[in-house]
Amino acid sequence: MSKPNVIVAFGGVSPEHEVSVLTAMQVLAALEDSSYRAIPLYISKSGQWYTGEILRDLKNYKDLNKLTATASPCVFTRLSDGRPVLKTLVSGIFSRSEEVPIYAVLPAFHGSAGENGSFQGICEVYNIPYTGSGVMGSAIGMNKVIAKQLCKSAGIPVVNGISFSENRWVDERDQILGQIKELGESAIVKPVSLGSSIGVEIVKNTEEAETAIETAFRYDSHLMVEQAITPLVEINCSVLGTPEKNRVSVCERPMGREELLSFADKYQQDEGAKGMASADRVIPADIAPELAESIQDTAKKVFSTIQASGLARLDFLVDGETNQFYFNEINTIPGSFSFYLWKESNISFNNLMEELLSIAVDQHQKKNGRVQSYETNLLSQKAVKGMKGLKTSK
Ligand SMILES: Nc1ncnc2c1ncn2[C@@H]1O[C@H](COP(=O)(O)OP(=O)(O)O)[C@@H](O)[C@H]1O
Ligand SMILES: [Mg+2]
Repeated sequence: MSKPNVIVAFGGVSPEHEVSVLTAMQVLAALEDSSYRAIPLYISKSGQWYTGEILRDLKNYKDLNKLTATASPCVFTRLSDGRPVLKTLVSGIFSRSEEVPIYAVLPAFHGSAGENGSFQGICEVYNIPYTGSGVMGSAIGMNKVIAKQLCKSAGIPVVNGISFSENRWVDERDQILGQIKELGESAIVKPVSLGSSIGVEIVKNTEEAETAIETAFRYDSHLMVEQAITPLVEINCSVLGTPEKNRVSVCERPMGREELLSFADKYQQDEGAKGMASADRVIPADIAPELAESIQDTAKKVFSTIQASGLARLDFLVDGETNQFYFNEINTIPGSFSFYLWKESNISFNNLMEELLSIAVDQHQKKNGRVQSYETNLLSQKAVKGMKGLKTSK
C-alpha cells in the first residue's frame, strides 16, 4: 500500500520566509523514513503556491526565481467525491496536471498568514486535517495583546502595559506618552502581531518612546508598550498535545548577544542554515528547579487557555532579581518545531512530526464526528415559497 501523503507547507508572505524554509527542510528530512510520504508545498514571497521535487533541497533556494520557474504551480481542490487533493496546474503543452490525495497538511510557516490562522482556515474549508493550532488558537497566539488579556483573566502573570492603534496615537499622543511614563524607568515598544523582534525597542524617555513608536507603526497598525523587565532572564519551553491533555518539555534559556534577542541573533549568524537550533541557548535552563517547574506548569496552562493544539513554544520573562516570571508570548509554529527541547525527553524530530500528525488526524476525526450539515434542503420549493421579498418563477 502506498504511504499517506502529508503536505509540508512553508515559505509564505512573511518576514520569516527564509526561517520557514529552514524549518521545512528539517521536517522533510525527518519524514523521509517515516510511514508518510512528505510532499513540499512552497508558498513564494509573492504568495504563489508550488510543489515539486526541486523544493526538497535547500541549495535550490539560493535563486528563488529559478526555483519558482522550475517548480510546478499548484492548488488545493476537491475531487467530485469530496476528497481533497493537491493539484498541479498545467504550465506547458507537454505537462500533465496531477492530483495528489491529501492525508494531512503540516504547516511549517513562521509568522503572518501561515501562522495566524489564515492558512489553517484554508485547510478547514477543504476539511483537511492539519497539524498545530486551529484557526482560533493560531489567531490568538499571533495577537500579543489578546493572548495576554486571556492569560491575565486566567490568573497567569503578564507584564504591565498598554496597547493602542495608530489612529489613537494620532488623536491621543500626549495621553499615551503620559501612560508610558507611568510604566516606570524603561519601557519596551512592540508591534502587536509581529515576531522575530522586528520593531521591538527599549525606551528610556519620552523622546525615545516617540521615535520607537513611529518606527514600529511602519510594521503594524497596533502597538503595545510594556514595562521593561531588568535584569531580564528569558526562559522558554514547549508544550505538546491538545488543550485538554498535553505535556511539557524541559526549559531552555536563549541568550542574545545584544540587549534584545534580535532577528540577527536568531537567524543571521554564520550557522543560520541550521535554523533556530543554532542560536545560543542553555538546555536545560540553568535556573532553580522550582522556578523551572512553575514555568512549565504555567506553560501548560497558557497552552490550554489559548486553545492551542499540537505543539507550541511558550516564552517567559523572568526578573533576574526577584525570580518573578511573566508569560510573554506563545509561538504556535516555533522555529525548528523546538525539536531540540524534545530531544531531552528522548523524542526525535521524526517522532515529534509523527505525534503532531496523529494529534491532527485524531482531532479532525472528532470534529467530523459531529453533525455538520443538515439533510433538509431549506431551498426546497415549499420553504422558498414562504419567504417574502424573493423573486421566484411561478
Ligand atoms: N517586557 C519586557 N522587558 C524586557 N525585555 C523584553 C520585554 N518584552 C520583550 N523583551 C525582549 O524583546 C524580545 C522580543 O520581544 P517578544 O515579545 O518576544 O517579541 P517577538 O515576537 O518579536 O519575539 C524578547 O525576546 C526579549 O528579549
Ligand atoms: Mg519572542
